[in-house]
Amino acid sequence: MKTMNLPHRVKLIDVGPRDGLQNEKQPVPAAIKVELVHRLQAAGLKEIEVTSFVSPKWVPQMADNAEVMAGIQRQAGVRYSVLTPNVQGFEAALKTKPDEIVVFGAASEAFSQKNINCSIAESMERFAPVVKAARDAGIAVRGAMSCTVGCPYEGDIAPERVAYLAGLMKSIGVQRVDVADTIGVGTPRKVQAAIEATLKHYALNDVSGHFHDTYGQALANTLAALQLGVWNFQTSVAGLGGCPYAKGATGNVATEDVVYMLNSMGIDTGIDLDRLIDAGVYISEALGRKPNSRVATAVLNKRAA
Ligand code: HMG
Ligand code: MG
Repeated sequence: MKTMNLPHRVKLIDVGPRDGLQNEKQPVPAAIKVELVHRLQAAGLKEIEVTSFVSPKWVPQMADNAEVMAGIQRQAGVRYSVLTPNVQGFEAALKTKPDEIVVFGAASEAFSQKNINCSIAESMERFAPVVKAARDAGIAVRGAMSCTVGCPYEGDIAPERVAYLAGLMKSIGVQRVDVADTIGVGTPRKVQAAIEATLKHYALNDVSGHFHDTYGQALANTLAALQLGVWNFQTSVAGLGGCPYAKGATGNVATEDVVYMLNSMGIDTGIDLDRLIDAGVYISEALGRKPNSRVATAVLNKRAA
């Protein structure tokens, strides 16, 4: 295996409270979301994607965004981010003092329409004032780029589409971007091509991997991204999640599985795997299921033996 580019440390952004829970059919009480955030930060997560300020008609599960943000006891050194698709969302988010806001676009026109009800070009018109207002307020700005490998409506997405989107994000002042495989169809070379396309516009330090695990490829894709030197990843505790506008897609790669792999590769994450597994058990029990993480399952079986 080629190892020369492997980073020595990795920053994980747990998106479980947002990407993980946004698709749950039953309402999850705000107090449980808040407790999940507390357990994640206690496990050593330094970035947590908490919620989204989107239309409650589109995503009812995130309607308690302000309540969740208000309930969190913030820990120094932890970055709390929220999704804001437009000025209305940003203004509501601003009152809750996020450290970072996330605008979210897509490399596929069809997904852009289904997810945020506008074209890629229109999305940039909506994002531009949000990005400006955030940066004027001293809030960091990240851009999520959906469907960088494949789209549920358009199929394969060419790397040129990803480069185009990354260029648009850069042009409106987005500071760093997530290369998202929304429906988890990517495999290592395809994911590397999407990342390389993004690197035409963003520095390595400003690119993160966001891999859903629908086809079981997300850990392999994470390693492929590491081999390019990417060291920021979004993962989801207990493998929670999916996007309501990407039917059948499962959650992000489980944070537990990535931490286990990185720990044993000697790559520092600053995360306590046992406490992380406990956080995953907490939210999974609240949802009435078992953690969707192979590592958590193995460790829990070992603990029980
Ligand atoms: P729209 O209908 O085009 O918006 O939705 P509009 O401006 O025409 O407004 C229509 C109504 O929505 C109005 O209410 C607005 O007040 C309200 P009404 O007058 O009908 O009562 N509205 C809002 N309410 C609360 N917060 C707001 C807001 N904006 C408008 N911010 C909109 C456009 C973007 C709002 C809508 O399409 C939407 O909410 N989409 C959310 C989609 C979403 O959250 N998807 C999941 C997150 S993305 C994801 O998971 C992918 C990611 O993980 C990366 C990956 O894996 O690919 C990030
Ligand atoms: Mg996602």
